[in-house]
Order: sequence, then C-alpha cells, then structure tokens
Amino acid sequence: MHAVKRVSKRAIGRAIKRGFEIYYERTLGISSGERNLTAPASRNADATVLQPVSYVCLRRLLKYLRANTLIRGAFLDLGCGTGRVMAFMARTGFDHVSGVEIDEKLAAAARVNTRKYGCEVICGDASNYQFRGTEKVIFLFNPFGPATLREILPRVPEEAAIIFVNPSAAHLTELRNLRGREPQVFDWNPTTAIVR
Ligand SMILES: C[S@@+](CC[C@H](N)C(=O)[O-])C[C@H]1O[C@@H](n2cnc3c(N)ncnc32)[C@H](O)[C@@H]1O
Repeated sequence: MHAVKRVSKRAIGRAIKRGFEIYYERTLGISSGERNLTAPASRNADATVLQPVSYVCLRRLLKYLRANTLIRGAFLDLGCGTGRVMAFMARTGFDHVSGVEIDEKLAAAARVNTRKYGCEVICGDASNYQFRGTEKVIFLFNPFGPATLREILPRVPEEAAIIFVNPSAAHLTELRNLRGREPQVFDWNPTTAIVR
C-alpha cells in the first residue's frame, strides 16, 4: 500500500513538473529545455553539462527571495546555459539580470532567449569573471567543481547572497569557508544551499 502511494506521489510530482515546464516556456516565450551530454572545456576542467534547473525549483526560490526581501540590485547566474533562470528572474523586479556562460553556442541561445527581457549574457569562463559590486543575488546550478568555486568565492561582493543548487559535500565546504557561517540547506529536490 505504502509502495503504491509512493509511486503515485512520484507520478504526480513528475506531471506537475512537466506542466510547469510547458507553462513557463510558453509564458516566457523561450526555449530552454535543451540538455547536453558533453561538458565544455574550462580552465580547471571541472565544468558540468547543460541541464536546466526545473521551474518547480525556481518557483520555490522566488518564494524564498520574496520572503527575505532579496529582490533588489543585480541578479547573476554563473553558468547560465540557455538563459532559463535569467528570463524567469528578469520579470521579478531585479534592476539588472545577467549570466556568464563558457559555451559559445549556449551563450548565443541565452542571448536569443533573454533579449526581450534586457538581460546581459557574457561568454567566458566564470573563474575570470570580474564582479561589478552591484550583484545582490548570485545563482549557481552546480555549474563546476569546487576548484572553480574556490577561485570565485573570495571575489564575490560582501552583501551578495549565494544560491547554490545541488551542491556536493566539497561545494558545501567551500561555501562554509566563505563567511565562516553554515549555509542554509533546503531539501528542495534538488537540495539548495544559500549563504547570506
Ligand atoms: C547545470 S547547467 C545550469 C544552467 C542554468 N544555470 C540553468 O539552471 O538552467 C551548468 C552550466 O554551466 C556552464 N559552465 C560550466 N563551467 C563553466 C565555467 N567555468 N564558466 C561558465 N560557465 C560554465 C555549462 O556550460 C552549463 O551550461
């Protein structure tokens, strides 16, 4: 009986996820469902493949950002893929939304998807990104390993909240070292760590 309940709960979860995929892709007028099987080359050779974060996860995150009055200043997606997160966040009230993507083709697709929202897409390795100081929320959906994260974190503006979706234990260690505080970890499927 419990097994049947578990299976139907999972099936309902999948149906809801699929429904949100269709709804938001249409509403935002974008095509960002693509996945890649090959990871791009990067300086530290620790890039992950393209996999867009789910809209279910983005809705939870938006609720958190609103509840904690974090929608202000600039939003940055490090490893922005085809720009899903940028398009979603551009309509929420941030002053500026930008993304960094190492893969040229993906960066071009992100530009097409987010042009109408006035987002900025920078093509390059996030480890070289020069922060502007205006970033208030920095989003990462497990784009690279702890080596690249370790290089980036010391340059992150002090006031910025860091949102890391699907962190490994090694990522969490890097996030913990940044401000000497335990990240808040939410069981959002995927797990999401937030450092403020
Ligand atoms: C898991 S996907 C997430 C995409 C997007 N943030 C989303 O949630 O829809 C990770 C992305 O990070 C990019 N990436 C990996 N290493 C990178 C690096 N060093 N600099 C910039 N982008 C990188 C990959 O090409 C991929 O598009």
